[in-house]
Amino acid sequence: MFEKNRVVIKKGGPLVISGKIEIIDEATHKVKIVEMVSLCRCGLSGNMPYCDGVHFKYNFEQDYE
Ligand code: FES
Repeated sequence: MFEKNRVVIKKGGPLVISGKIEIIDEATHKVKIVEMVSLCRCGLSGNMPYCDGVHFKYNFEQDYE
């Protein structure tokens, strides 16, 4: 069955991806399956590539580019 996946570009924040998502760490070959993940767009996260919310502190303002 086709499951719709979605990517939401949060204004001033991360990419929020939902659906059935497989995250593969190329270095360790670990695979994690999640239903939602937020990926950092500001470049300031202390937990790259994931958003840790620090974009709020620095008023990241990039919109949809
Ligand atoms: S977008 Fe949230 S920490 Fe970078």
